[in-house]
Amino acid sequence: MRIIERVTEMQQQAESWRREGRRIALVPTMGYLHEGHLTLMREARNHGDEIVVSIFVNPTQFGPGEDFERYPRDMARDELLAGEVGVTVVFAPSVREMYPDGYQTFVEVMEVTRPLCGRSRPVHFRGVTTVVAKLFNIVKPDAAVFGEKDFQQLTVIRRMVDDLNMDVQIIGHPIVREEDGLAMSSRNAYLTGSQRGAALSLSRALGEAERMVHGGERRGAVILDAVRSQLGSEGELRIDYAELRDPDTLENVTEIRGPTLLALAAFVGQTRLIDNRVLPG
Ligand code: PAJ
Repeated sequence: MRIIERVTEMQQQAESWRREGRRIALVPTMGYLHEGHLTLMREARNHGDEIVVSIFVNPTQFGPGEDFERYPRDMARDELLAGEVGVTVVFAPSVREMYPDGYQTFVEVMEVTRPLCGRSRPVHFRGVTTVVAKLFNIVKPDAAVFGEKDFQQLTVIRRMVDDLNMDVQIIGHPIVREEDGLAMSSRNAYLTGSQRGAALSLSRALGEAERMVHGGERRGAVILDAVRSQLGSEGELRIDYAELRDPDTLENVTEIRGPTLLALAAFVGQTRLIDNRVLPG
């Protein structure tokens, strides 16, 4: 496995693979790798001959007062884990390498970035689409793998790729969870023991909502009331949003008629966690 830190070096490597007819699959990450990330890398092996993982804590997707500075980082461990799952190249540029002096270009997707995480994190998706577009230009992937854990992010990236005619196949992969149901996240490292217990109510609430739909409940308001009271019973947890949305357009849903996204975000202490499930129609 090779570590590449320079944009031009990564572009040259990608170009030479392409000339040899090798397919490139990219897994973009911000590092502090966990089993969720590693599962995406294993999935990437089904879509490419050369697997590139980018590790870059992207400052433009963090708002003022968010956790950019203290976001967990452990490059040595990440390199080891990526090597073990058969990654060919770890692309790990510096912030200066990605955003040199004078940088002033951004990619912005409109409607689908407005609700949910876009409402509480106004600059977030502009940073995500900008860095992902840059990574696509640098790594020149045939396919890129993203997790459904960040469901809205996946929707936004699919929109960008369609709208800007980017020639890359976007692969979505289901959420990977801890045994007790907690969705894996680099930010779980922030949680104290009791906070981790409180965080479990997110996946419990998703399960409860699914049981209600299986039981015939179709009224969005009734389902969201149950979800909110499940989450509200945790003293250490503050709900950011709990919403039902169309999984393709992210438009608001009031009655379950087909597959419907239940998307949750909550602060547990200072830590913002998200989780979601597509409820069967
Ligand atoms: P990061 O949070 O490191 O996540 C990298 C990828 O791993 C994303 O596609 C995310 O959805 C996926 N992922 C994280 N936890 C997961 C889980 N429990 N199960 C399945 N997939 C999971 O998302 C980002 O980084 C950044 O916004 C990025 C796309 C790299 C742009 O900076």
